[in-house]
Amino acid sequence: MQATAFAHPNIALVKYWGKRDRDLNLPAAGSFSATLGPMRTRTTVRWGVPTDRLVLDGTERDAAATARVSRWLDLVRAHRPGLGGAEVVSDNDFPTAAGLASSASAFAALALASTRAAGLELPDDALSVLARRGSGSAARSLFGGFVEMRPGERADGTDAFAVRCQAAEHWQLQVIIALTARGAKKVSSTVGMNHTEATSPYFRAWVETVAPAIVAAREAVEARDFARLAAVAEASALQMHASAIGADPGVLYWRGATVDVIHAVRRLRDDEGIPAFFTIDAGPHVKVFTLPIHAATVRERIIAVDGVHDTLEATIGGDARIVEAE
Ligand code: DP6
Repeated sequence: MQATAFAHPNIALVKYWGKRDRDLNLPAAGSFSATLGPMRTRTTVRWGVPTDRLVLDGTERDAAATARVSRWLDLVRAHRPGLGGAEVVSDNDFPTAAGLASSASAFAALALASTRAAGLELPDDALSVLARRGSGSAARSLFGGFVEMRPGERADGTDAFAVRCQAAEHWQLQVIIALTARGAKKVSSTVGMNHTEATSPYFRAWVETVAPAIVAAREAVEARDFARLAAVAEASALQMHASAIGADPGVLYWRGATVDVIHAVRRLRDDEGIPAFFTIDAGPHVKVFTLPIHAATVRERIIAVDGVHDTLEATIGGDARIVEAE
């Protein structure tokens, strides 16, 4: 009745921003991501306790935080009645302030650990559907390497899941995360995307960019074509943010240093011929992709940007996995 799983965070190269169904958490369009390593979430689930409990990074969480997880655990209980309550103990080995979506690795690890602890052996797509119900980006964190999220068409969402396009070994890229602000972000991804969809005149135009961008990103990764991937990823990030900035009132995640890092990355590429591109999620930090041999130079240029107080480094990570079951 107990299992422990590891899952890595991921960064979208073609962004997910908007839902076609909020109750089932169905995305309005697909997305395409790179899974990161070595940072990970580790989650242990034990079924058969009187009530659900949630312990994150060593601290027992309150009723509100536990309620979100309890609602999600109900989906597993629906697969196997009689499981009772679950004790969920989870920790991240990367700082929350890293600007990495910890909900992605959290719900991926939870999906794997909780189903295994319940004695369920779900196929990959069903597991990805379950993780998606917790957080859209979590559907992708079950798989290593380069991953495509399929938006699906069915109303019940059974065809909205992620698939691995290329394993991590296919292309080892280096990611440098430029931290441009301290403290938690003010507008969560969920709130930001729902508000964009409800009020931005650019939301529909944004959604139309996604499908062709995914085809281009998939092909670029397959061919290890860095310049093409750079163009697709930067365009997708800027188009997503343009749709959010166009909401009413506008959702603006950037700080001054965010923009300065964008310029620094473009200078590296245009003036020095160094392969590098940026992407930005629902926060002020900038994630810069490069090839391992250029990582030291890229880091040096990024940390020199005014307002960048630290950097973190990552590589391309592997599949989520069970580390122990009993
Ligand atoms: C900007 O997966 O956090 O990081 O499904 O509402 O939990 P919910 O949203 P979430 O959104 C991630 C948004 C993003 C882009 C991406 O990861 O694709």
